Amino acid sequence: MSILEQIDSVRNSFLADIESFPTKSLEIDAIRSKYIGRKGQVAQLFSQLGKAGNDERPLLGQKLNQLKNELSQLFDEKLKQVHSNTQTSEDQKLDLSLPGRKNRIGSLHILEQTLGEIKEIYRSIGFHIAYGPEVDDDYHNFTALNIPEHHPARDMQDTFFINPETVLRTHTSNVQIHLMEEEDPPIRYIVPGRVYRNEAIGYKSYCLFHQVEGIYINEKVSFAELKGCLEYFVKQMFGPKKKMRFRPSYFPFTEPSAEVDIWDEKRNQWMEILGCGMVDPAVLKNVGYDPEKWHGYAFGMGVERIAMLKYEIDDIRNFYSGDIRVLEQFI
Ligand code: DAH
Repeated sequence: MSILEQIDSVRNSFLADIESFPTKSLEIDAIRSKYIGRKGQVAQLFSQLGKAGNDERPLLGQKLNQLKNELSQLFDEKLKQVHSNTQTSEDQKLDLSLPGRKNRIGSLHILEQTLGEIKEIYRSIGFHIAYGPEVDDDYHNFTALNIPEHHPARDMQDTFFINPETVLRTHTSNVQIHLMEEEDPPIRYIVPGRVYRNEAIGYKSYCLFHQVEGIYINEKVSFAELKGCLEYFVKQMFGPKKKMRFRPSYFPFTEPSAEVDIWDEKRNQWMEILGCGMVDPAVLKNVGYDPEKWHGYAFGMGVERIAMLKYEIDDIRNFYSGDIRVLEQFI
């Protein structure tokens, strides 16, 4: 290889080496001595100059000097670059003034917590827990509950229809029917779940909310037992001092029927939290229970309203906003 060719080859191999320039100082030194050190490849080329002919020596000398300067300059630039890079990353690593990162701890949504409390209270007095379909046929959501087609009682709950025979359930009462169809009496269940209403949205009404249905069927069940059960629930949930009242009401699937209101301290008014009553004999007949022999009570409570009252949440929409500032208050 002629000296000129060697000059090119040394330059190329140097360029390839600094392309993947190392950051450790020992390796850097190795590159320096390999090319521009005292015994490096450039120095060796200089030592060959003596062998060159007189006429080409000046040109080769010039080329070699050029190579030496070029490599030294490139080397220095690269070195500077590497230094400034490592310096910033070292600085970042060692910035002791950075505040520590706070871990956010996940937690159950306040509705899920409230549901858990409700379930526990009823479990402690002998209720089993059951679930049922959110999308159901008209029969289970309405007809079997003594709400015939074209009956004005259907307007009590504005309904989302999937098709003319299928609805998003408007209440958890549909599961009363499923349970009684599947099991012989006596039965005692609560049924937590989501329900849907196509109604005007406001501070205490939303298109989606949660209910806990209760149903107890046995040979002798009295309205007094229903009252006792619900009073026990309210005392456990809100403490003994919370004001509650039973108010006569109407539901097609219970007779007599009532609603329970809780005193809302903040708004200075009553807030309805549940409907209840003695299961109508027509409903028992629909599921094949003998209404002469079996009696029962049922209730359906609104979980959001209970949580609003207990945890002083002003607006039902807060449960569904996903706003971390709301959620964080109930960790
Ligand atoms: N399903 C009723 C509603 O959503 C609430 C209700 C009232 C449920 C009376 C019951 C009951 O089980 O007996 O408004």
